[in-house]
Amino acid sequence: MTKAIYPGSFDPVTFGHLDIIERASKVVDHLIVGVLNNSAKHPLFSVEERVVMLQEVTSHLPNVEIQSFGGLLVDFAKQCDASVIVRGLRAITDFEYELQMSQTNRKIAPDIDTIFLTTNLKYAYLSSSIVKEVAMYDGAIDEFVPAAMIPYIREKMKEKVKKY
Ligand code: COA
Repeated sequence: MTKAIYPGSFDPVTFGHLDIIERASKVVDHLIVGVLNNSAKHPLFSVEERVVMLQEVTSHLPNVEIQSFGGLLVDFAKQCDASVIVRGLRAITDFEYELQMSQTNRKIAPDIDTIFLTTNLKYAYLSSSIVKEVAMYDGAIDEFVPAAMIPYIREKMKEKVKKY
């Protein structure tokens, strides 16, 4: 059985991430979406919120599981008994960083390989930061994130505005 990890911050999950999750779930037996718990990144959503949001948008995929993790990705992969890491490549600008990460991970854990899926062209421009930027100014985000995510994002933006 091939178990893979698709790691990321998912702050918040976008159509681009969901596209990679759906496609990766077809090529491996079991896919664990690993939500990075990294306070250094100052995420908009807590790791618990990101896990719930991902669970909601992947509920139609029976072989997909959502888990949070901290520390090294390869340690998390070993802990989950996963031998593959999945990453999406949007553009050539992603490549250098992804190459460096995958080579570092292989150096530390030679038994774990990274596979890359090229992002659907429709979502090649998309990032979580773009979603947050547009949402902050109350712009339409329905082209960027699944409909179920919109109330979460709107609510969070309201909380943020109240704070300042
Ligand atoms: N569609 C849309 N957007 C995408 C995307 C896709 N297919 N793939 C990535 N993105 C966006 C994300 O939304 C994010 O946007 P943002 O910067 O605006 O928030 C950006 O690309 C990068 O995000 P992500 O995929 O979440 O990567 P990351 O850099 O936050 O985290 C980890 C990458 C989790 C794999 C890496 O940090 C890690 O492994 N950390 C654990 C520590 C470790 O092991 N380090 C050693 C590795 S060398």
